[in-house]
Amino acid sequence: MNVIHTIDALRRIIFENKQKGKRIGLVPTMGFLHEGHLTLATQARAENDVVIMSIFVNPTQFGPNEDFESYPRNLERDTMLAASVGVDFIFAPTVEEMYPHDGGIFIRAGHQATLLCGASRPGHFDGVLQVVAKLFNLIQPNYAYFGQKDAQQVAIIQTMVRDYNIPVELRIVPVVRENDGLAKSSRNVYLTATERSQAPAIQQALQLAKREFIESGNVDKSIQLAVKIIEANMDGSIDYLTILSYPDLTEVTSETEQVLLAVAVYIGKTRLIDNLIFSLKGEPAHV
Ligand code: PAF
Repeated sequence: MNVIHTIDALRRIIFENKQKGKRIGLVPTMGFLHEGHLTLATQARAENDVVIMSIFVNPTQFGPNEDFESYPRNLERDTMLAASVGVDFIFAPTVEEMYPHDGGIFIRAGHQATLLCGASRPGHFDGVLQVVAKLFNLIQPNYAYFGQKDAQQVAIIQTMVRDYNIPVELRIVPVVRENDGLAKSSRNVYLTATERSQAPAIQQALQLAKREFIESGNVDKSIQLAVKIIEANMDGSIDYLTILSYPDLTEVTSETEQVLLAVAVYIGKTRLIDNLIFSLKGEPAHV
């Protein structure tokens, strides 16, 4: 497996493989890989001739008071993990390589970025779109792999792909969980032992709220139930706990095909997110 740091080297590899008619799968990440990322890469391996994983902690998606500097990084460990699931190339550019110009051209996410994580992270999704658009342009993948854990991110990237006619197919991979239900995340390493023991309450709350919603169709009642469980079991504070239509992220109506039940909780210094996506009848997601 090769680790590439420059756009020139990346372009050469893409050119050679496109000329040979190879199908390219892209797994965009910010590194510090966990099983969730490896599941994306494993699916990419099964569906493509060439698998490229990008590892880039993208500064433009971090707010001024967020953890850009302290975000965990370990390229050596990531390289070994990526190789173990058959990734062919890692693209790990520097910030200067990705953003040599401050040209002032931005893609701005719309309504979908104003709520959920976007409400407390203004500009975050614009930064995500900026880097993802660049990666799509540089790598021109046939398939790009994203985790359902970041359901809002997926919805917004889907909208960019649709609205800008980007020739890539998004492949959305279900949330990968620890045995106790906690969604895997690079940020889980920040949890203290007590916080870690409380964190599975998030998934328990979502499961009970989902059951309530399917039975009663009552958004407020379902949300209140989940809030009660989280408040009773965690020393955390809820940033949001919402039920919306997916992927448009509008109010649920009788026309809604997919429902997003999404939560973000601050516990200690860590912000954890999780979600479930299902139909009004409770059938699993088709994202
Ligand atoms: O989900 C992430 O890790 C990041 O937002 C992404 C898509 C790699 C863009 O930096």
